Order: sequence, then structure tokens, then C-alpha cells
Amino acid sequence: MHLTSHPAWDSLTDQAETLPHLSELFEVDPQRAEKFQIEAAGLFFDYSKNLITEDTVKSLIELANAAGLRDRIDAMFRGDKINITEDRAVLHTALRAPRTASVKVDGVDVIPEVHEVLDRMAVFSNRIRTGEWKGHTGKRIKNIVNIGIGGSDLGPVMAYEALRHYTDRSLTFRFVSNVDGTDFAEATHDLDPSETLFIISSKTFTTLETMTNAATAREWSLAGLGGDASAVARHFVAVSTNAEKVSAFGIDTANMFGFWDWVGGRYSMDSAIGLSNMIALGPDHFRDMLAGFHEMDEHFRTAPFEQNIPVLHGLLALWYNDFFGAQTIAVLPYEQYLKRFPAYLQQLTMESNGKHVQLDGTEVDADTGPIYWGEPGTNGQHSFYQLIHQGTRLIPCDFIAFAKSLNPLGRHHDLLMSNVFAQTEALAFGKTLEQVEAEGTPSALAPHRVFEGNRPSNVIMGEKLTPAALGRLVSLYEMSVFTQGVLWNINPFDQWGVELGKVLAQRIIPELESTGEPDLKHDCSTNSLIRRYRKMKAL
Ligand code: F6P
Repeated sequence: MHLTSHPAWDSLTDQAETLPHLSELFEVDPQRAEKFQIEAAGLFFDYSKNLITEDTVKSLIELANAAGLRDRIDAMFRGDKINITEDRAVLHTALRAPRTASVKVDGVDVIPEVHEVLDRMAVFSNRIRTGEWKGHTGKRIKNIVNIGIGGSDLGPVMAYEALRHYTDRSLTFRFVSNVDGTDFAEATHDLDPSETLFIISSKTFTTLETMTNAATAREWSLAGLGGDASAVARHFVAVSTNAEKVSAFGIDTANMFGFWDWVGGRYSMDSAIGLSNMIALGPDHFRDMLAGFHEMDEHFRTAPFEQNIPVLHGLLALWYNDFFGAQTIAVLPYEQYLKRFPAYLQQLTMESNGKHVQLDGTEVDADTGPIYWGEPGTNGQHSFYQLIHQGTRLIPCDFIAFAKSLNPLGRHHDLLMSNVFAQTEALAFGKTLEQVEAEGTPSALAPHRVFEGNRPSNVIMGEKLTPAALGRLVSLYEMSVFTQGVLWNINPFDQWGVELGKVLAQRIIPELESTGEPDLKHDCSTNSLIRRYRKMKAL
């Protein structure tokens, strides 16, 4: 059944039209804050400043039940092949399950393999961190460059930045993703090849960008190491599911760290794809991060929906997306270390839920996947918040903050946090014309100074940004995305939408590289762009 024909959908439509202003909702219910706050899995979630009543939450949960969310959660954790378009299990949760757990895919328990790889990663990370692993010329490795893109880059970059406080500062970490040569050139321009290790991270080991950058890295290394091909073994390791391609590239599979087809690219930062993070943080911190993921996974798997942070978070995203026409959600970390978190979330959320058909192939009948975007606060306040406060669009916001700073400097942290609370207050309650006029504002100016308020936000607060806290936070969003996907009855685990452009680019490459004029058979716009490019580059 399409959820849009469920009675709860009609009820939500009515509720969205008749909801009083947030100011009124708070005024009539002094207990509102406690009613809509949850403390679980090490995070405090305040969702009281949303455009909801208790009935709204009830109706949203009714929809979740009608969509079979409980069964879908169980099916995912159990290892059922819920990624039906690729016939795969979806088991990123197994990557952070303890050694004592047991999860079977095709009758085989995957947990021992997961821990075997983690243990190998730990040994290797320690060898780099202690200097035991030497480069080809006998020098210690000081620089680690991760080459990967999408899920093989965004997670590692985000986590490296997020947990920089905990990293070994004597090592330099760089991340190369773009096929634009500038990315590689700038990442390596000040590095010594004899002290540099490349981690080639690619689930498929076929991705154009990564393979191009990997080949350039090999040339760069060999050129700096006297051209001896045996140097590759000391300066290149691979993270992949494709051993054959890894060996074909010239990397010994003894230096390969594997993962499995049941780990989606955008759900892989806690697999061997996190090798650069484990080297930076050390195995213990990496394991703490996995424990944080697991804590939130367990909360999501077991808590009743009324008390379940990711479920409610996901339902609220659907609420604004489908009943208020909100197209975007802003994610606003008030934590400088989380500066790459919104970029990371963009792949997680939009590659997962940017889908137009349901599991059975029929068109969806409600809008899916909201657009996620954001920047750290307070910087964003001096940039795009104007539109959130006074623009004509409804933009639900997630504020993410921590009670303790990792860099407690004077008054900085209280000033930062005062802005979190002030922003959510301003968004919810605004400032009326009467209030503006009462301040003596000239009447011509008064309308410009009015804040309508009634703009929703969540606050997600932790004690301190630790590896475990990051794990909890990422799992929260992963499970929120899953919840949304289940309600829309779509497959959040495939990404066919990225294929067409890749195929067309393969066709165009020879047309750009050929010495003779190619016989172009595209539309007239594409043909003329290719001709113009060929002419301009020849000048
Ligand atoms: O952009 C498509 C995609 O397949 C992502 O899902 C994935 O994270 C990325 O490319 C990189 O893929 P790989 O790890 O196989 O190089």
C-alpha cells in the first residue's frame, strides 16, 4: 500500500494546515520541552522546537508502523538482502558489532572476518605509527595520502578533520579525490616520495578518478625513488573488495585490506576504508569510534519508536519534506572540527534517498530525499542564515553542539554555545511587528525587522566530541536516512543515478584526446562545446 493513502497521511495533511504557531504551542504547554526530548546512546536530542504536537508524532509513528519499519530494521540487522536491486545484504552495522556477535550472510558468519581485517589494520597502523614500516630507501613514513572518491574519501576526510584533536601530529595526512590534476598536485607538492605512503581506497578498484590518481601517484613515487618498480610495495597499500584489480595494479594483496559487497560506499568509513583514520588516531581510538556507532545502532534497533532518536529524526525529515514542501535541511555543526560533516552527509543522504521509484519499480507518490547542506556555526550566521530567518522558504535545521570544547580558550565556548541557543530561539519564536514597533522602530522600517518565527530546528548535543561521539552521530544520520527510505518504500542502498554520466564521459574521452577531428554524434550543444574545447586547448 502506498503510504499516501493511509489514514495517518490524511491526518498529517490536516495537522500541517492547522498547526498553531510554535510560540503558542510552547505557551499552552509548559511541559513541551520534556515531552520532546530524548537522552540516549550518549546524545541529547531536543526536538521540541519542531512544528509538531503529540498527535503529529503519533501519526508519524503510525505511518512508520504501516511501512513495516520494525521488520525492515530487523531485516537489515539480520543480513537479509534488502538491497534488492543489487541483491546484497546491507550490513554496515556488522562492521562495528563486537567480536562476540554473529551475523550471517549466505550462511556464513561475517563477524570473524570483520575483526580479522580490523586486527590486520591495527598491526599495520601501529607499524606506521611506530616507524617500524620503512619506505623503499629505509626512511620512516611521515606522510599518508588517501586516494579515493565518494564514500572512499568523504568519510575518511570528515573523520580525520573531526577527530584531528586525537591524531598523531607528527604524521601528515592528505586526501586526493578529484580527477582534476590540481588535487593531486597540491596534495603532494611539498611531500618527499621516500617518506610518503599512498592508500588506494576503492571498493570496486575501477573508479575513473581513483585509478587515474593512483597511476599518477605511482609515477610520482617511482620518479622520486629512482624508478625501481619494487618501491611500490613499500609505498602503496590498497583498500578494496576487488583483489584481482588490486594485484593487476601492482599492489601485493598482502598489503590489501578487504571489505565486502554488503558494505555500501557511503556506509564504509568504519570498514578498512577508514585505514587512514586508524593510522591517524591509533587503533584504540578507532575502536572507540566503532563502539560509538554500535551504541547508536543498538539504540535504533531496540528503542520503541517514541523514544528512538534516529526514527524520530527521520520522521521529522519526512514531515517537512512531504507535508510542508520543504526541499532542504540545513545541518549546522557548532563545532569547528565538524566542518566537513555536511559534505559527508550529502553523499550519505542524497545518494541514498535521491530515488524516484519504489522497491517494486513504480513511481513514488510523494517527494523523496531532501537536499542536505550546511556549514559550521557561527560562520554560517554571517552568510546564509538571513534566508533561514526571513526568507520565504521553510528550512528545518539540525544544530549539532558539544558541551565541552576540545580547545577551551577563555570565553570562546560559552560564546559559541550562546549562539546555538539564540539561533534556535530566534527561529522558533521570531519577533512580532508589535515587538519591533515597541522598540521605537520607525514604521517604514518595522516590517523589515519582523521575524515570523515558527521555523523548526532540532538540537543534537553531546558532552564532548570524542571518537565514540562521532560514531554515534554518524550512525544517527545513517539510521535516520534508513527510516526515511523505508517510509518512502525506496532502496536507499543503490546508486544507479551516478551511472549514466560515467558512461557518457567514457564515450567523450576519446573525442577530446584524438588528434584528428572526431565525428561527433551528440546533440548540437554538446557537439559545439566539445569543438570549442578542442579549439581553445590547442591555442
Ligand atoms: O559515486 C558513485 C560511487 O559508486 C559511490 O557510491 C562510491 O562511494 C564512489 O563511487 C567510489 O566508488 P569506489 O569506492 O568503488 O571507488
